[in-house]
Amino acid sequence: MCFMDRFSIVIGDIAQSDAECIVNAANCSLLGGSGVDGAIHHAAGPELLAECRTLGGCETGQAKITRGYNLKAKYVIHTPGPVWQGGGAGEAALLASCYRSCLRLAEQYNVASIDFPSISTGVFGYPLPQAASVALHAIMSFLNEHDHPQYVRMVCHSQNAADIYRYTWNALFADDKSSCL
Ligand code: APR
Repeated sequence: MCFMDRFSIVIGDIAQSDAECIVNAANCSLLGGSGVDGAIHHAAGPELLAECRTLGGCETGQAKITRGYNLKAKYVIHTPGPVWQGGGAGEAALLASCYRSCLRLAEQYNVASIDFPSISTGVFGYPLPQAASVALHAIMSFLNEHDHPQYVRMVCHSQNAADIYRYTWNALFADDKSSCL
């Protein structure tokens, strides 16, 4: 299978995902919040927070894994994305590191499928078009070099977000797809 066929963009609520692993757009405390973080903790139940409390936080761009508890997903990988500061504070590198750190952990845990939210593009203010380009480059280069995880989805929370991700994907990779063996 061409590595490009292992990636897709969907619209939905990541807390309801049936992927083996879902990614939480967390903050460095790993003690919950609003947005994706709030939705995942609400759906997972209080045991998720209890396990998060044992992790001692997480640095921006890094990732830590927990069980999924009441979620359909077996695992949650928590990653704090960068707060947008205008683009000159290394935000792109930190955001790319979020995606790579999560994918490396998923590979380590032999996860078959992982769903991402659009990290940092809500409360943390990262503009969607720029974030989409960073995310897609990081995801596609990882899939090109690794057989696991087999399937990766970007779970967008709105049609607008999905349109931006799809437009960006086509702009960056549509030509390569035709040459994919
Ligand atoms: N499913 C999928 N995507 C969602 C969901 C959901 N249930 N809820 C929100 N989103 C989208 C938002 O529209 C945004 O595009 O996820 C993206 C990330 O938004 P946030 O959840 O605000 O995450 P982020 O921008 O990374 O900010 C993280 O917010 O919730 C707090 O504790 C969290 O401090 C941390 C900060």
